[in-house]
Amino acid sequence: MSRTFRIAPSILSANFAKLGQEVTDVIASGADIIHFDVMDNHYVPNLTIGPLVCESLRPVTDAIIDVHLMVKPVDRIIPDFAKAGANMITFHPEASEHIDRSLALIRDSGCKAGLVFNPATPLHYLDHVMDKLDMILLMSVNPGFGGQKFIPETLNKIREVRRRIDASGRDIWLEVDGGVKVDNIAEVARAGADVFVAGSAVFSAGRDTDAHRYDSVIQALRDELAKVN
Ligand code: DX5
Ligand code: ZN
Repeated sequence: MSRTFRIAPSILSANFAKLGQEVTDVIASGADIIHFDVMDNHYVPNLTIGPLVCESLRPVTDAIIDVHLMVKPVDRIIPDFAKAGANMITFHPEASEHIDRSLALIRDSGCKAGLVFNPATPLHYLDHVMDKLDMILLMSVNPGFGGQKFIPETLNKIREVRRRIDASGRDIWLEVDGGVKVDNIAEVARAGADVFVAGSAVFSAGRDTDAHRYDSVIQALRDELAKVN
């Protein structure tokens, strides 16, 4: 049976002066999910966007808005994102005092919940929460910036998480974030990922071209994924 692959452009690399149009264009070009990077200049050394921007984008698209929280603490901002129309919310376990509580808070607000692992964050955080997860997000760069290079050691971690998900028998998405491009997405998929965040690869490819300008890069990513199935 062939796996379902989903492409999730990170709007971190979009043109923020016309964010609504960028979201519309990228979804019209065949992307599946909007990846929404939230940075607080505390947990990570960068500052981005919050619930107000999510709320403004909600009427622009029916696509899943996948909120990646790179903030500490996490709990107080979760209900705000749920109210703003987020569909999925993920956070870094070491940024939460009570992981189980944060996961429950996300699901109780009506969103899908997930944990995010930095390249060097150990996977033992998964040990007691697999039944509370809809998604596991593996960082393949250190969080904070778009346009970084994929860290190849992450591939073994993807394989390990794929094993754990399969052993659990649960329908948990495995998303990979950071440095995913046309030339490595197939390798990432073979290692076991099924959701692919791509920020600079998508948005830099479309810059300065005409309408539906993301069609060719998203098709190129899909063509690579088709080789895996
Ligand atoms: C990094 C963010 C990523 C980033 C990906 O902290 O979580 O989502 O925007 O950008 P690229 O695809 O350019 O590595
Ligand atoms: Zn992200």
